[in-house]
Amino acid sequence: MPRKLLKYKNYDIHSITTATPDGRKNANIAMWVMQTAMGGKMLCVALDKTDYTLELVKKSGIVNINLLSEEQTRLIAKLGRQSGREVDKFKNLPYALDERGCPYLTEAVGYVQGRVTGYADGGDHELVICEVLKQLVLHPDKPVMTHHFLREKGLVRG
Ligand SMILES: Cc1cc2nc3c(=O)[nH]c(=O)nc-3n(C[C@H](O)[C@H](O)[C@H](O)COP(=O)(O)O)c2cc1C
Repeated sequence: MPRKLLKYKNYDIHSITTATPDGRKNANIAMWVMQTAMGGKMLCVALDKTDYTLELVKKSGIVNINLLSEEQTRLIAKLGRQSGREVDKFKNLPYALDERGCPYLTEAVGYVQGRVTGYADGGDHELVICEVLKQLVLHPDKPVMTHHFLREKGLVRG
């Protein structure tokens, strides 16, 4: 039994993708994502201050928030345990570009197109606040990947 209350909470698993005007792009794994306005108009994502994803988001101002399916467990290591500063994460990654040139993951349940409207200090993470431009469902029948699912599979600890 976990001793800390916050360990009881479950989270959906996402990949945040972005692309800068100078042609750089990246994808990570992020579970700290939540809606912040009625009608699905805004959401926020907590991004690690030291990661490449936040560096690029600050330059691009655009993101796609891809909701992962349980079939995408190989992406945990590929996108969530190494940095785009060191490897090209888009090699052997099924993706396409939206009309803004921002990547999205074609095997995900779907993705939200976001435009960054502000930032707030979240400690070691930055809260990235986004206006929701569009919500696109790609695979409505795929089960959503969650943190508890990854824990049961032994793919994450804690
Ligand atoms: C299950 C899981 C959940 C994660 N959740 C977050 C998160 O909410 N926010 C975040 O910034 N990083 C999160 N990470 C860590 C990043 O995905 C990881 O540091 C990644 O290597 C960053 O890559 P980058 O330097 O290319 O941005 C998570 C990783 C895993 C495996």
